Amino acid sequence: MKGCILMNGQETKRLVNGPGVRLTANGSAVTHRKRRREPPMPDEWPDESSVTEKVMETESQTSSDVALGTPVPLAKVLSAGASRLDAIARGEPFESEIHAELAQETPILEIDHFSLSYGPKQVLFNISMIIPRGKVTAIIGPSGCGKSTLIRCINRMNDLIESVRIEGDIRLDGTSVFDPGVDVTEIRKRAGMVFQKPNPFPMSIFENVVYPLRIQGVRDRKILAEVCERSLRAAALWDEVKDNLHQNAMQLSGGQQQRLCIARALAGDPEVLLLDEPCSALDPIATNKIEDLIRELAGTYTIVIVTHNMQQAARISDFTALLYLGRLIEYGPTRRIFSAPHLPETEAYVTGRFG
Ligand SMILES: Nc1ncnc2c1ncn2[C@@H]1O[C@H](COP(=O)(O)OP(=O)(O)O)[C@@H](O)[C@H]1O
Ligand SMILES: [Mg+2]
Repeated sequence: MKGCILMNGQETKRLVNGPGVRLTANGSAVTHRKRRREPPMPDEWPDESSVTEKVMETESQTSSDVALGTPVPLAKVLSAGASRLDAIARGEPFESEIHAELAQETPILEIDHFSLSYGPKQVLFNISMIIPRGKVTAIIGPSGCGKSTLIRCINRMNDLIESVRIEGDIRLDGTSVFDPGVDVTEIRKRAGMVFQKPNPFPMSIFENVVYPLRIQGVRDRKILAEVCERSLRAAALWDEVKDNLHQNAMQLSGGQQQRLCIARALAGDPEVLLLDEPCSALDPIATNKIEDLIRELAGTYTIVIVTHNMQQAARISDFTALLYLGRLIEYGPTRRIFSAPHLPETEAYVTGRFG
């Protein structure tokens, strides 16, 4: 398998073998893999939030309003879910629950038995999942469970961290993103990323948007102007800034800055947009605009969004994956995850009983 790293000497298996397949995910140690350091993309440094041992909480806690179906009785959650979560925390083997509907989707990304450690600390454990083409996939889970780490691997942002070791593979359109022949700058264009805190460059709106073309050496003013307008329109920002394209981007509001960052990612003509909690620094009105934008961009682009806001995941995504302590717990159509999840621990998480 091209670019694939072997796990305990065995070749990794095909990702989705058919409807209702359960994939074993245990906590085996990862092997060292050294990679060339690549020039950084504009970025904020990863959160240093720590994994907290989560325990099931009491019935007195208020449930959130996202769970739409009949709740699993709490006694069942506590007996089945809590013991399984405890087993995961002890590092025992665990099978991800992948809904059959995923097998009907066309994958643009295949995350294949993927594990990651920061130095001695393993934070992702044998994750296997596809990301469906043209859909919005939300990744949810308690703080520190590895959501950012996972999406940063898709466009190799974690290359910037010296101590990172990985095992398994991630394929974009069938090609390993870790293939030694792969151009990392190209991968980061094909899978553009937007971070929690808007990170415009201290330059004009125009120069921010056309940045991906500038680093490719494009000089033609007509092409730059066209891409700038097209990207700003796609990011629903054009009408607000068209008369001030040469104004410094730092003067925009937080919500405008975030849409500018999305426009900059779109200017690179990506196949996938990776959004890491893109609304967490924004007010509700700006959040609404970004959510509307995500729905508009879906179809044309594949979107992976990390969010700690379950209502947001329920509103805007087609599929939702729940991570816990670096494991993929359950992954399926969003309406199923929030109304009739297969696992009691997913039910417990989406109703606010843990996390
Ligand atoms: N650069 C890093 N070096 C060491 N540990 C890190 C680094 N980045 C994240 N971690 C740790 O990895 C775990 C997962 O973090 P992260 O992916 O940011 O989780 P999430 O996005 O779900 O909150 C956490 O325990 C975090 O402290
Ligand atoms: Mg994060």
